[in-house]
Amino acid sequence: MSLPLPLASLRRAARLAATRAYAPYSKFKVGAAILTQDGAVFTGCNVENASYGLCNCAERTAIFSAIAARKKALKLRCVVVYTDTPTPTSPCGACRQVINEFGPTARVVSYCRGNAVIDTTLDQLLPGAFGPANLGH
Ligand code: THU
Repeated sequence: MSLPLPLASLRRAARLAATRAYAPYSKFKVGAAILTQDGAVFTGCNVENASYGLCNCAERTAIFSAIAARKKALKLRCVVVYTDTPTPTSPCGACRQVINEFGPTARVVSYCRGNAVIDTTLDQLLPGAFGPANLGH
């Protein structure tokens, strides 16, 4: 039996992370909070660059922070995204691929300032994903 997902606190963490976004070009601030299978939470925001192609999304910032913070293997249980917009934002294709690496069945929940929520799973967002198994891992 797994513990219930602490979605309210993950939403708060993602909302706070969004306030730290560095998004002077798009002005589109995104926050993410990820929950690992062993109960740790990491957050991230988008970090843009004058060389636009180098922008890093909030979801990947959170995942890369988790990888950098500890030695044990990262297994994602849930990814929460927050945008201060009227409708929720689903992870981009690149982030779906990165989430797949560490959480192919992770729950993915997107919140916004309104009541609308996108509540789904990574395998629904990226069916038939290419992943570690294709390389024999
Ligand atoms: N962005 C994210 O951080 N996460 C998403 O799920 C969608 C897009 C960022 C990238 C860029 O800094 C800005 O939002 C506009 O695309």
